Amino acid sequence: MPDSLVIARDVAGLRAAVKAWRMAGQSVALVPTMGALHRGHIHLMETAKARADKVIATIFVNPTQFGPNEDFAAYPRQEAKDVALLEPAGVNMLFAPTPPEMYPPGFATKVSVSGLTEVLCGPFRPGHFEGVATVVTKLLLQALPDVALFGEKDFQQLAVIKRFTADLNIPVAIEGVPTVREADGLAMSSRNAYLTPEERKIAPALYAAITKAAHSIAHGEGPMAATALAKDEVLKAGFRSVDYIDARHADTLASVNPGEARRGNFSGRVLAAAYLGRARLIDNIQI
Ligand code: PAF
Repeated sequence: MPDSLVIARDVAGLRAAVKAWRMAGQSVALVPTMGALHRGHIHLMETAKARADKVIATIFVNPTQFGPNEDFAAYPRQEAKDVALLEPAGVNMLFAPTPPEMYPPGFATKVSVSGLTEVLCGPFRPGHFEGVATVVTKLLLQALPDVALFGEKDFQQLAVIKRFTADLNIPVAIEGVPTVREADGLAMSSRNAYLTPEERKIAPALYAAITKAAHSIAHGEGPMAATALAKDEVLKAGFRSVDYIDARHADTLASVNPGEARRGNFSGRVLAAAYLGRARLIDNIQI
């Protein structure tokens, strides 16, 4: 019989639980989320359960990672529904802090990562990765788990989190978990809730286009030509605009050059961000 889910709203409650587990010799995994949980999140929780004795999920819609014209207010919030999904997934604790618990009056610290945050989503979402890095640093230090798990759908976010965790010597292993997809290929995302039924039919075109581009590049086609074709296909399918579709090195996120693509001796990824109606969808795939 699994333990029932405990909810902590403050850092003291979180730390007390972790301390008790540590004293009993148990390992701990952390899965940070912003809630509106879907099967992709549940897969993260189940993977976490296989990695550690105890699993903590966090739900916090982090205001500092949203730009002024972004969807912070509209972001779906459904804690009761989320709680009902967490318990059967074997999660032991939900940490769902209030904004003042995370950012008390006088809060003045930011975690900023250069390089990795200056490409792809970085220029389109100024301040976003600083907000993510700051809140994830706090969550890691508040819980001090053995391992923290993040979805590969947010591939750039995962690279940034790995970077600052190593740079700041935070003693937590960071694990990326492959994207969970709908039957038609659409990557699961809380923001899919913004799609109208008509847009939902168009949405898998993004995954189809980057899959084709990754396949072409793997067979020696130039990355520029392959990703330009993918952009055309996505726009023709009905997407409103494309922020980027790019071929990048998986670890550094540096651009893949045509010579490397021809030789095929690199570990690469095609990454994309595009608007469909009011939803900004992101996705990526290994080359
Ligand atoms: O990927 C997310 O849901 C968020 O960016 C994260 C990692 C929970 C930080 O707020």
